Amino acid sequence: MLDRLDQLEREAEEAITAASDIEELRALRVRFLGKKGALTALLRGMSQLPPGQRPAVGRKANDLRDRLEELLRQKEAAVREAASGARWEKERIDVTLPGSPVLLGRKHPLTLILDEIKGIFTGLGFQTARGPEIESEYYNFEALNMPSDHPARDMQDSFYVSPQFLLRTHTSPVQVRTMELQAPRLPVRIIAPGKVFRRDDDATHSPMFHQVEGLAVDRGVTFADLKGTLLLFARAMFGERQQIRLRPSFFPFTEPSAEVDISCIMCGGSGCRVCSHGGWLEILGAGMVHPRVLEISGYDPQAVTGFAFGMGVERIAMLKYGIDDMRLLFSNDLRFLRQF
Ligand code: PHE
Repeated sequence: MLDRLDQLEREAEEAITAASDIEELRALRVRFLGKKGALTALLRGMSQLPPGQRPAVGRKANDLRDRLEELLRQKEAAVREAASGARWEKERIDVTLPGSPVLLGRKHPLTLILDEIKGIFTGLGFQTARGPEIESEYYNFEALNMPSDHPARDMQDSFYVSPQFLLRTHTSPVQVRTMELQAPRLPVRIIAPGKVFRRDDDATHSPMFHQVEGLAVDRGVTFADLKGTLLLFARAMFGERQQIRLRPSFFPFTEPSAEVDISCIMCGGSGCRVCSHGGWLEILGAGMVHPRVLEISGYDPQAVTGFAFGMGVERIAMLKYGIDDMRLLFSNDLRFLRQF
């Protein structure tokens, strides 16, 4: 009987050492110490022993029970610790690793220029106005004194979305819309920044680009006011030493009309590649609002006068930042955009 207890001990020790998870240990406890377990079965056989041997066997059986209990407890603790160690290893993060940098957004060069233009004219008392990008033939052409046989109305140059609607080819329709809303109150003093669309696409033309329209209407507004305003703008934008030059031109909605140049920002006027050795760079169209446009918009051309201008924002950005291909402004290449 004592031998069988020894044998049971070896067997149990071996099995407990080999066990690798909690379930297995639970099964071993049942197998060796349970009510129908091996040790219990052995003890039941004690009644057949001579009474003199019983105490020794009983003691040994109790010791074995205690020992197996202890072994199971230790093994269970070890198994639990190993499991949590494995989880810790799996979930571990190295807090010393460098993080991925958060990219800072910044303003697009066109937005920077637009902000600057708005700032300059806001300082002169101009308010910002807006108009739709899909415009009617009426506002885009007709109300601006462009007869239906005017070449700018050609499908070749503009994007029509239906027989009477097109993507606006300039911001000048906002002149008419603003005056219509405001008439007969004076003064009118607005700029209208926004997108315009033309069928052009090369290094200096894009099918979509931006203009800022300007309009001032009041009693006694003169061509000198236009010239003074534009000179002030040129100097605020490009520096105090800027000169401007007005060349006679034609627009159906202004009379007289002018194209306005600034002295070359690269060479100051002596001539270089940027200004094609002419010393001047064209930046906008302008003129005195045509009486017909005033009238159609609700103002009396006998009583008030006005000036208007329209400038290309991309052109100003290219000059100011020395950009030689307009498409860079629209390709969203971070290597380009990061420079501003
Ligand atoms: N709308 C004209 C253009 O796009 C510019 C302009 C605006 C000219 C206002 C005169 C007055 O070319």
